[in-house]
Amino acid sequence: MTIDTAPGKIILFGEHAVVYGQPAIAAPLSHVRAYAVVKNNPNPGIRLIAPDLGSDILLSDADTDDAIAAVVTQLQKAANIQELPDLTITVSSQIPIASGLGSGAAIAAAVIRALAVHLGLGYLLTDEWVSDQTYEIEKIHHGTPSGIDNTVVAYERPVYFVRHQPRNHIEPFAVAKPLRLLVADTGIRSSTKDVVGDVRRQWELDSSTFNTIFESCGRIANTARQALEAGDVAQIGQLMTENHALLQKMSVSEPKLDRLVEVALAAGALGAKLSGAGRGGNMIALVTDDVETAVSTALLSANAKNILTTTILPTKNFPPQGG
Ligand code: PMV
Repeated sequence: MTIDTAPGKIILFGEHAVVYGQPAIAAPLSHVRAYAVVKNNPNPGIRLIAPDLGSDILLSDADTDDAIAAVVTQLQKAANIQELPDLTITVSSQIPIASGLGSGAAIAAAVIRALAVHLGLGYLLTDEWVSDQTYEIEKIHHGTPSGIDNTVVAYERPVYFVRHQPRNHIEPFAVAKPLRLLVADTGIRSSTKDVVGDVRRQWELDSSTFNTIFESCGRIANTARQALEAGDVAQIGQLMTENHALLQKMSVSEPKLDRLVEVALAAGALGAKLSGAGRGGNMIALVTDDVETAVSTALLSANAKNILTTTILPTKNFPPQGG
């Protein structure tokens, strides 16, 4: 039996603009994870089980867009395996789906890792390879993903990311001071594919306005990167709130996200913004020890459905990697 796992993620800066080549910054949510368990199946066939979704099917009966089936087929293709053995693959996830926390990417990365190890292909498992395979799955579900979700769940470190051809620019980096964040769920599910598609339609209609917004997001991400590396927590907060205002201009916020951002700031958060595709999903608020309880209470009274807390910890510096 082989078990593997991958984390959820939050986007700290630059969602949407990242699709158009601007830099973005994301971090793993390491205590909220997806898991995959791969076992030999005593019966013929490859059984795909997702207990959370009440789903138990054979690969041979699965639709081509079935999330787990797509991962198995992708791995088979990437590793050039003619015939797979009889297997049971079970996935579970603590990451809420369709809420901007990278649940789809984390499930795909967990299955890729567990399946590769189970098949004796562990030598393939660099972070870059896992990220690349996960990206192929993201394309099926999200249309034109930038690649930031698969990168951060595969590398499991804060990353500075720029979409680029032929290879994305990926720099894992270290924050200088711990960052305490509250991640509050609106309870509204939204489809990343739909929201990204809607931004694209608006960009096509008015590319000059949208390019200016995207460039401002890019400048914020670059300034934020310096502030994160310098440990300037107050500036990081301010930049988050500025980024939220730009996301409002893109029309990807909505009343509940705006309300949660407002109440978090009023209760003393250093900064707050939506995180991910928007139109629902989660927002993040940067807090200090002094205000954490007040901000959390304010978010709950504004009807946040769930609040996760996470601390992005300073880690040792990692060399830049391609991928
Ligand atoms: O998957 P989500 O909801 O976290 O959104 C991904 C971030 C976007 O920038 C909106 C899309 C992308 O592919 O980068």
